[in-house]
Amino acid sequence: MCGIAGYIGDREAQDILLKSLSRLEYRGYDSAGLATIKGRSIQLVKKQGKLKILSADLKSDPIEGAIGIGHTRWATHGIPSDINAHPHLDCKGKLALVHNGIIENYLELKEKLQKEGHKFTSQTDTEVIAHLIEKFYSGDIVEAVRKALKKLRGSYAMAVIHKDEPAKLVGARCDSPLIVGVGQGENFLASDVPAVLDHTKDVIYLNNREIAVLTKDHVLVKDFEGRKINRKVSKINWDISQAEKAGYRHFMLKEIFEQSGVLNNILNERYKKGSISFEELKISDDEFKKFKRIAIVACGTAYHAGLTGKYILEDLVKIPCWVDVSSEFRYRNPLVDKETLMIVISQSGETADTLAALREAKRHGAKVLAICNVLGSSIARESYGVIYTHAGPEIAVASTKAYTAQLAVLYLLTLYLARLKKTVAASKLNALFKELKRVPALMEELLAEYKPDYNILAAYAQGFRKYYHEKHNKTFFLYLARNINYPNALEGALKLKEISYISAEGYPAGEMKHGPIALIDENPWVVCIAVKSRTYDKMVSNIQEIKARNGIVIAIATEGDKEILHHNINYLIEIPKVDELFSPPLVAVPLQLLAYYVAREFGYDIDQPRNLAKSVTVE
Ligand code: F6R
Repeated sequence: MCGIAGYIGDREAQDILLKSLSRLEYRGYDSAGLATIKGRSIQLVKKQGKLKILSADLKSDPIEGAIGIGHTRWATHGIPSDINAHPHLDCKGKLALVHNGIIENYLELKEKLQKEGHKFTSQTDTEVIAHLIEKFYSGDIVEAVRKALKKLRGSYAMAVIHKDEPAKLVGARCDSPLIVGVGQGENFLASDVPAVLDHTKDVIYLNNREIAVLTKDHVLVKDFEGRKINRKVSKINWDISQAEKAGYRHFMLKEIFEQSGVLNNILNERYKKGSISFEELKISDDEFKKFKRIAIVACGTAYHAGLTGKYILEDLVKIPCWVDVSSEFRYRNPLVDKETLMIVISQSGETADTLAALREAKRHGAKVLAICNVLGSSIARESYGVIYTHAGPEIAVASTKAYTAQLAVLYLLTLYLARLKKTVAASKLNALFKELKRVPALMEELLAEYKPDYNILAAYAQGFRKYYHEKHNKTFFLYLARNINYPNALEGALKLKEISYISAEGYPAGEMKHGPIALIDENPWVVCIAVKSRTYDKMVSNIQEIKARNGIVIAIATEGDKEILHHNINYLIEIPKVDELFSPPLVAVPLQLLAYYVAREFGYDIDQPRNLAKSVTVE
């Protein structure tokens, strides 16, 4: 949450920082700001609203300087406003600071600083850091930052400049991400890799409790005690074009269409000549055999992938498996120990609750395996082993390709463990591998149907908008499914509410009669996932129950299923024939697209939905 950018070099900082912030806007977008040093003074511009408002302002009235910091905000303390936007200054306007995270003891620090005469202008927690650094400053910005950090409690990444030391850009991190981009005669700070990729592919991932001191020719890393640390430079092996829209109207649409390719890569890279390999797994086969249970912990969409994992792991590996949302797991006394394999799933690898859950599990002695997309992220680094999903950068706030990539990794891990523990006969395993390998091509086929801008899902979405207005906005969505597609019902509802702000609920279809059926009349649109499976007949009964009460049914069914048409459904979505075990990634595609087209019909900002941010680095 919140994006940080910093630049030091010979070029004008303003446009470099604006470009970097545009690549970080997915992290927050309620206000943005820049500060540079020109001569011996700080130049500052900050604005409420999206980055384009700040950019327009700077276009007509630019700020100069070859060193600067920038920020795109997701408000925690203090409403989105010009004043609360970052950067923040000290009393005398000598230093400027941007911050990502939460300072938990800011009230106590603020009171103390106010008593000492410091004047605050904003309602943010961030401003205390600027005043603390001011308090400790006596000619050495790095030392002042270091002393200030010792007083802070909470999570943070920050970047600081001081007008009396215009050749130094200082960054620090504790529990929020920060990287250094290493250039030629210039260096960069950023919350995430895409922000520096226009300029360099060499990055240093700062660890927790590290400070980076950047001049234009040098990067020095120290720990919070002031000791110098040798940090290696990593090479990024993907291109900035992957973080661009490539002709698609929205990142979300582009990322939906990338899914067949992502799945193909995952399966081809990991499954070769009949054997599965996970190069960063670290957990030995002997260790795997000893685990008595599996605990999966994640948030949001990643949690839904984890729920699907439970179905397949218990089914094929015959090992008890429970799934928890990270924020619940971390505050109870979880029953995990050294006989538990803890799997944490996270696209960003920075989600604060998942990171805290991981640490809690480690404290209980559990071995943690991360399924993660972002290389070098905190979750990946703090876990014992990691399986990267290699889905490429996911920019749209609503997660799509990361979800199906997580599913693909869970399938591979399940089959790997089933083979290792001999819980599935070899002939059945081979058949399952074969079927899994078909999924990317089936998905490609499915996506091809939705290539034309006006397709059946766009038409359904149009129909929904009309109905919504006819019914005076009383219409909402229910998503029902059973068994292995139940997590998809939750995911379909989450996608819709995230980007179209329409009420949507996912439910196990068998639970309908225990309450939710009271909601059914002619208002709700009910998406029923009724693909061919062992629970197909039960789903059909649910459809009949909804139709008997005048509900509108969108059925997701298997291609060629003639029977479904006899149940008076209103709309049909077909997915290719596949073993029910592997249907979730295919079912996910129309669910994502339906949410996308509904949001588009209503004219919402699909890639940057209100109140959300891509990487939730605060609790
Ligand atoms: C939904 C979505 C969120 C994330 C959740 C976890 O579209 O994007 O629900 O899935 O915030 O994020 P990661 O996977 O980065 O831990």
